[in-house]
Amino acid sequence: MTNYTVRQEIKPANLSGISQEQIDQHWKLYEGYVAQSNSLKEQLDSLRKEGKGDTPLFADRRRRFGFELCGMVLHEYYFGNLKSAVADTSAAEFKKAVSERWGTFEAWQEDFINTGKSRSIGWAVCALDPMTGDINNHFIQLHEEGNVPGYHPLLVMDVWEHAYMVDHAASGRPDYIKAFFQNINWQIVEERLKDGMQKTISKRH
Ligand SMILES: [Fe+2]
Repeated sequence: MTNYTVRQEIKPANLSGISQEQIDQHWKLYEGYVAQSNSLKEQLDSLRKEGKGDTPLFADRRRRFGFELCGMVLHEYYFGNLKSAVADTSAAEFKKAVSERWGTFEAWQEDFINTGKSRSIGWAVCALDPMTGDINNHFIQLHEEGNVPGYHPLLVMDVWEHAYMVDHAASGRPDYIKAFFQNINWQIVEERLKDGMQKTISKRH
């Protein structure tokens, strides 16, 4: 049985405009998603062995597992695409692809930022449909509502308040998004695009 582990190798450091204290606090929450995903997997296995797979309790725990597991996975994509001082010239194919789709890279960027400003807790995710080559920006509510099966995440931005409230007030999401854009690991975005175009799963860590 798979046991999920905290992937220390993707923990960001030395970001610009996002403090280490912010990252450290956020990281603790990510650790919680890993722990809860493991715990719920065990709980579901135990309940199944007890013949309780069709109970309301099982159904409730199964829904919660979706929340925790999507939370874990999205945080891994998010932390994995944060690094300071990576020029967007590292993402030439990505810029070309979104320019074809939106007209300009800046138009895509504006749409992604607006996605992140959605009035809800959740995530802005730029994803590739590997079947059609389309690239679109999606808002994921909570962690689990709005993920499109089979779509390939290229850029993932956490916009829960916990992602920025060490550095900003509750109303500071726009400032956080500006800081996020100074810390995108464009090289990873480019690799994810190339993997997706080849219908290959990208490494999350
Ligand atoms: Fe988060």
